Formats: sequence, C-alpha cells, structure tokens
Amino acid sequence: MTQDPFDWIDDESRRRASAGLVRTLRPRDADSELLDLAGNDYLGLTRRPEITDAAAEAARRWGAGATGSRLVTGSTALHAELERELAAFCGFEAALVLSSGYAANLAAVTALSDRGSLIVSDAGNHASIVDGCRLSRAETAISPHADAEAVRKTLDAHPGRRALVVTDSVFSVDGDAAPLPALAQACRDHGAALLVDDAHGLGVLGEGGRGATAAAGLAGDGGVVAMLTLSKSLGSQGGAVLGSARVIDHLVNTARTFIFDTGLAPAAAGAALAALRLLGREPELAGRARAVAGTLHRRLTAQGLTAVRPDAAVVSVRAPSPEAALQWAADCRAAGLGVGCFRPPSVPDGISRLRLTARADLTDEQIAWAVATIVETAPVG
Ligand SMILES: Cc1ncc(COP(=O)(O)O)c(C=O)c1O
Repeated sequence: MTQDPFDWIDDESRRRASAGLVRTLRPRDADSELLDLAGNDYLGLTRRPEITDAAAEAARRWGAGATGSRLVTGSTALHAELERELAAFCGFEAALVLSSGYAANLAAVTALSDRGSLIVSDAGNHASIVDGCRLSRAETAISPHADAEAVRKTLDAHPGRRALVVTDSVFSVDGDAAPLPALAQACRDHGAALLVDDAHGLGVLGEGGRGATAAAGLAGDGGVVAMLTLSKSLGSQGGAVLGSARVIDHLVNTARTFIFDTGLAPAAAGAALAALRLLGREPELAGRARAVAGTLHRRLTAQGLTAVRPDAAVVSVRAPSPEAALQWAADCRAAGLGVGCFRPPSVPDGISRLRLTARADLTDEQIAWAVATIVETAPVG
C-alpha cells in the first residue's frame, strides 16, 4: 500500500489541538452588531461613506484591479497622487505604494540589504519583517526587545559593515513603542540605515497622526526609511515605503514584491487617499484614539487585570493560558464584543493575550460597556 503524502498534516493538526493552538476561520456578517475591538481600524474610517464612496469611484474610473505590475501596465495618476500625499503628510521626500503592508516590508528589508550586510532586528518585530530578513540572505542579529544600547553594541561589533536596523514603531502584540531617537542616534554613529515599520503609528502618533517618525523628529532624515500600512488607520488595504527619492527609486528597480506583484488595487488606493485627506481635516482623531487607549488601560487595570501601558492605540491584556485566552475572547464575542486573541506561535514570548483596538470613534458608553464585558468574562484566578 502506498503512503498518503499528507499524513504528516494530521500529526501536526493533533499536536496543535493538544496544545490549544488550533486556528479556525469564523464567518463575519456584513451587518454584524458586534462592537469590534479586534480589527486595526483605529480611526473608525473603514465604513465611513466618504471612504467607501472613494473606493467605489476609483474602481469605476480605473477598474476593479490594477491589471498588472505598475512597471508593466503603467502607473495611474491615482497611485502617483497617493504617493505624493502620503510622503508630504508624513514628511518624507518620496513614497512607493504596494499591494500590502506585508509586501512593503519584504520590499524595504530585501532592497536595503544584501548577502554581505548586517540586519539588526528587534525580537518583537512583525512577521513580515522576520520574513524580509530571511529573504534578504543578510546576516540577521535578533536584538533584545526595545533595547537601543543592545543595538549599538551589535553595530559596534561590526565596524565599517553595511547595516540596516529595523524595528516596529509600535509593537503589534503589546502596543509598546520602540526607542526611536536612541536607535536613530546609534544608527547615525555607525552609518547604519534605520527602517521603521509604522503600521501602528500612522494616524495615531505624531501631530495629527503623522506617525512615529514625525513624532521622533526623524521624518525626512536621509538615513531613515518608514514603512506604512494603508490597512489600519487609513481603513483601506495596501502598504507603502517612504524615504528619500534615491531610496524609492532603488526600490522601484530592485524590490521583487513591487516588481513582480500586481499594483495596489485602484479601490484601495482611492480609499486610502480619501482617508488621508480626511485625517488632514480631522487631526483630532489621532489624539482621541490615544485617549481611548489610555482610558481602556486605566479602567481594566483598576479592575485587577494585567495590561501593558499603551504607547499608541493597541491595548494588550494578559491571559493565563492559550485556552483561557480563547475562551475569554469567545465569551466576549458571545456578549457582543469582538476582541483579538493572540497565542503562540504569534507571540514569541509564549504569553497569550487579548488584544484590544482603541478606536477613535468609540463613544464613552461603548468604552464603559466594553470594559465591563471584559472584566465580567475574565478567567477566574
Ligand atoms: C507591525 C506590522 N507590520 C506589517 C503588517 C502587515 O501589514 P498588512 O496587513 O497591511 O499587510 C502588520 C499587519 O498585520 C503589522 O502589524
């Protein structure tokens, strides 16, 4: 009898089940009544009519898809406009938009390093950075979390070597911030480049939501490159890399996830551009998201829960085990509250958490109800 080539999948599946780590897809209704604190729609823009109308209008004008790589089928005026306005808003010379934030990180990390160079990557960085480091074939030093001195020591151990330091601005699991000014100084002293993944900073940090690089005074610094997603605060889909015109031109010529990928869909570009303009008109949204995060943290910890003090709009609440986290999230959902549930292997430190999104559009009543629901459903002990 021949052996089934996929028997090993059942073995792995059993192993996941016994560790409480099974992932399943849940259906989501278009008109769900759930109060959503699980997504990354920090400013509550994804369903604003102005944004969805812009998506529909862009699709009508430019088509449902980008039809090919922008290097093959051309770069639309919509892409150019979005890149110009993103760069100007965040304070960089130029920008390049890609089909996802994931693709943008792969593009930036691989284009800015090579087999002979050194990458210093924070231990808490997002999976897309981890994958970018692997694809780059550069030597990658994993640096202790948010520790600029450790980064400096690693750079010092490699004098004269081409180096790229890469960090999330706001770490996606715990919502804590990277020490950007100290990292930038270590980079300057070594002649290293700094790549900042500002997925969770754009729209929340900096004046009017201009992001973590602007907040740290690093926007437009020739040695600094920022990566953004259009899929969180801007309520759309896609990613971008921001930097000097020289860096962006280098990406157009060398970044495989730009060259060999269909361009950002017109609807996503149109929605992101409308959201960016809305943020320009409503700069108070950024401060409101931060204030909601502070309130959630204060009230949850006052009730005895353990949560990390948020530096932006991610609030992370500790759970005693993966199983307890899963049950807690399910109980919240049954009560009408959507919360994120992070378990290994998504969390490298093995600690399971509920992850809450502090949305700028939450009312005071919704915040109070969300806190009460999380507290009432919390695991005992
Ligand atoms: C820190 C960070 N970087 C990159 C990404 C990838 O962005 P996207 O979801 O737009 O592909 C995410 C989102 O999941 C993220 O949290």
